[in-house]
Amino acid sequence: MTTKIYIPRDAAALALGADKVAKAMEEAVVARGLDVAIVRNGSRGLHWLEPLVEVETPEGRVAYGPVKARDVVSLIDAGLVSGGDHALCLGKTEDIPFLKQQTRLTFERCGVIDPLSLDDYRSHGGLRGLANAIAMEPMSIVTQVTESGLRGRGGAGFPTGIKWKTVLEAAGDRKYIVCNADEGDSGTFADRMIMEGDPFVLIEGMAIAGIATGATKGFIYTRSEYPHAIATMAQAIEIARRAGVLGPSVLGSGRAFDMEVRTGAGAYVCGEETALLNSLEGKRGIVRAKPPLPAHKGLFDCPTVINNVISLASVPIIMDKGAAFYRDFGMGRSRGTIPIQIAGNVKHAGLFETAFGLALGEIIDHIGGGTATGRPVKAVQVGGPLGAYFPRALFDTPFDYEAFAARDGLIGHAGIVVFDDTADMLKQARFAMEFCAIESCGKCTPCRIGSTRGVEVADKIAAGIEPEKNRELLSDLCNTMKFGSLCALGGFTPYPVVSAMTHFPDDFKPAPVAEAAE
Ligand SMILES: Cc1cc2nc3c(=O)[nH]c(=O)nc-3n(C[C@H](O)[C@H](O)[C@H](O)COP(=O)(O)O)c2cc1C
Ligand code: SF4
Repeated sequence: MTTKIYIPRDAAALALGADKVAKAMEEAVVARGLDVAIVRNGSRGLHWLEPLVEVETPEGRVAYGPVKARDVVSLIDAGLVSGGDHALCLGKTEDIPFLKQQTRLTFERCGVIDPLSLDDYRSHGGLRGLANAIAMEPMSIVTQVTESGLRGRGGAGFPTGIKWKTVLEAAGDRKYIVCNADEGDSGTFADRMIMEGDPFVLIEGMAIAGIATGATKGFIYTRSEYPHAIATMAQAIEIARRAGVLGPSVLGSGRAFDMEVRTGAGAYVCGEETALLNSLEGKRGIVRAKPPLPAHKGLFDCPTVINNVISLASVPIIMDKGAAFYRDFGMGRSRGTIPIQIAGNVKHAGLFETAFGLALGEIIDHIGGGTATGRPVKAVQVGGPLGAYFPRALFDTPFDYEAFAARDGLIGHAGIVVFDDTADMLKQARFAMEFCAIESCGKCTPCRIGSTRGVEVADKIAAGIEPEKNRELLSDLCNTMKFGSLCALGGFTPYPVVSAMTHFPDDFKPAPVAEAAE
């Protein structure tokens, strides 16, 4: 019988040499006449173990990692094809603690299946949600999504069902589903992993959104820095079209839905939904004032659903297993699961999907294993470049939208970047302002001008020039940006700045001018 060996094709694994490992494996099995099929799967999300090679055995999949091309011969010699022991053997994949502790709903197939095999997708539960949806009235689909408690995973946490209801009820001959796959937040990669590892789940989620709201056309907007995701998605769309999952009659329902991938140049502000719409229309990526909401007047002025990749990819399991199944996970108003992306200076970087409610410290210390440098954790930034820096004192905060907001933080797209005790928080605050200055779309003054002034004031504090006065000025500036900016780029840049000042005041008290100049 042919043995399947899995070697990821995910960009993180490729960056670490997965193609070389696959080539070496191909040569080794051919040279020895072994009956092996190499499957290029997505990533399991254990990035410190990439490239993670797995072999299918009668007892389940056995993992090896991190594998280099030069390890392949010794792995084959050790009997990898039958799950043999080796210094790189990690045992059964499902027993690796980082995976075992997860609740994988959205990512249940990622790293498990061949991303471009629709048969594999179907045999692992794919398309059941869509089949259920086409048998339902649009409003019943919307109700099911609303009752699941699903909130937008792009950052704002807006209830997905309510957004869909607005588009369903909006008048319009043409409506659109736009998938926000711009994924600009620092330390985030969940959208990319889905697009590369389980693209059909996103296609299925978008088709359900289309059927629920009356939209017949979908666009995935992503960035040119994601060439592997773009290629995989485009191939998957073509396969889905040929199989009748997309097209004039979705799964033979008589209802039409088709989609395509569009690529942006990679501006952070183009992840903001209205700037994204402008970019998609071929215009400059500048923020639009709201109202009108995109749900009423979105792409080409038509009613438009804009959802993040993870929001849309979570819909198929909700339509398959029901609203109550999904809602039963989580805490408070944060229902279901969240794929937490652990990055930065951390030992076990990767993707950890779990029900909402896990304490931040548990994620950093136990799941992430602390810093890669082995030094104490000083701060973590949660929620991308606009997220607050949390010190260890706040590590009891549960991963929950409201709990983070209550501590002047945000979950955003659930990326966590870890810093050890060598981090200079004044430099991080300056970086937040500099990032805003570079990425600002320029439409409103507090953001466009404020961010540049913010950099200057941070530099003055660092140089020891009237530090007390300049700290006050920086706080004032943050207030102006927070309340006077048109969108969250200018409005949330104060979060990393103010949190750094509040929790790490010593870093904002540099040596006096005379000493600093020495
Ligand atoms: C500056 C800025 C950048 C953003 N970048 C992204 C992004 O990369 N991906 C994303 O899904 N949402 C991003 N958002 C949030 C979107 O505006 C919007 O809330 C989201 O796409 C809605 O989808 P959801 O309800 O499924 O989260 C960004 C917002 C701002 C203000
Ligand atoms: S806050 Fe910044 S990015 Fe947002 S509209 Fe104003 S200038 Fe543009």
